[in-house]
Amino acid sequence: MERITVIGAGNVGATCANVIAHKDLVKEVVLVDIKEGVAEGKALDMWQTSAINNFDTRIVGVTNDYLRTKGSGIVVITSGVPRKPGMSRDDLIKTNAKIIVDVTEKVIKYSPEAIIIVVSNPLDVMTLAAWKAANKPSRKVFGMAGILDTGRYTAFIANTLDVSPKDIQALLLGGHGDSMVPLRRYTSVKGIPITELLGKAEIDKIVERTRKGGGELVNLMGTSAWYAPGAAAAKMVESIVDDQKRIFPVCAMLNGEYGINDLYIGVPVKLGKDGIEEIIELNLNEREYKLLQESAIQVRELVKVMDNLNIFGD
Ligand code: NAI
Ligand code: 2OP
Repeated sequence: MERITVIGAGNVGATCANVIAHKDLVKEVVLVDIKEGVAEGKALDMWQTSAINNFDTRIVGVTNDYLRTKGSGIVVITSGVPRKPGMSRDDLIKTNAKIIVDVTEKVIKYSPEAIIIVVSNPLDVMTLAAWKAANKPSRKVFGMAGILDTGRYTAFIANTLDVSPKDIQALLLGGHGDSMVPLRRYTSVKGIPITELLGKAEIDKIVERTRKGGGELVNLMGTSAWYAPGAAAAKMVESIVDDQKRIFPVCAMLNGEYGINDLYIGVPVKLGKDGIEEIIELNLNEREYKLLQESAIQVRELVKVMDNLNIFGD
């Protein structure tokens, strides 16, 4: 792939571009922002690490110049406002939906074939907004949250058990919010079910901390996280560019899977060169299924907020 574009040169966008460049996956990463000079400066700073850190991927920053993004194979959208303390993800809808629609239309004009990965919040609704604006098959437009949330879940388990996070396998479903559903039945350490290593109360505590993982960081830093979010989006990029067909929880459009229709929400998928190559339907038990449906209800509430904005004229 020649080129990848990252829209938004803020905390998450810049981190994502930096991680992609370090993986040496493509010839060029174009970083776009509306703030004059910011993308240019960060791109230049990152490019000056190339000789130090040994990578060839050029990083170019531009202010609102979409022509420079032409022919991108993947576009990662991080533009928007992050959550501040006391601000819910819902509060973000009004501002961010308009930004997402605007930037999606602009990138698609110059990169009609691009796969779009949305990161901006509230994630599930912003992914829907990008899909509507892009007018592309939903397997080419999806969102990043599950890898981040699973990363948090895994990090907490690694700390609790004092084991390497590399040995932990875990899955998580649902919307990117407090209603997400970490799946303890699908969590293991080197194949050993987590339920054999930790008691229910300890797992409950980890699940609860994972659900509130984004908020914990907002409270600590006064803005939302960026290292893990940027790395998680880059991981999706890598699976697509190298056609790795990795299985990741991804915010995908469901058309009947898990009994859910016309909604973007987190489910396990296979990610390869064509984007989402398969949505994997797990054999959920009654409790897991119920929790996923509850999460879907919460995401639909946010969709309603966006629908009421009438930004798509439908
Ligand atoms: P940030 O404020 O550091 O960066 C956002 C950037 O977007 C700013 O540089 C801003 O100038 C730019 N921007 C705003 N409007 C734009 C437009 N029309 N065109 C181009 N650039 C534009 O925010 P941060 O921390 O990077 O977060 C970005 C988004 O990602 C937020 O919505 C945040 O809530 C979300 N997020 C999502 C996560 C997920 O798991 N899906 C995790 C972490 C953050
Ligand atoms: C996060 O989970 C706020 O979505 C952001 O860190």
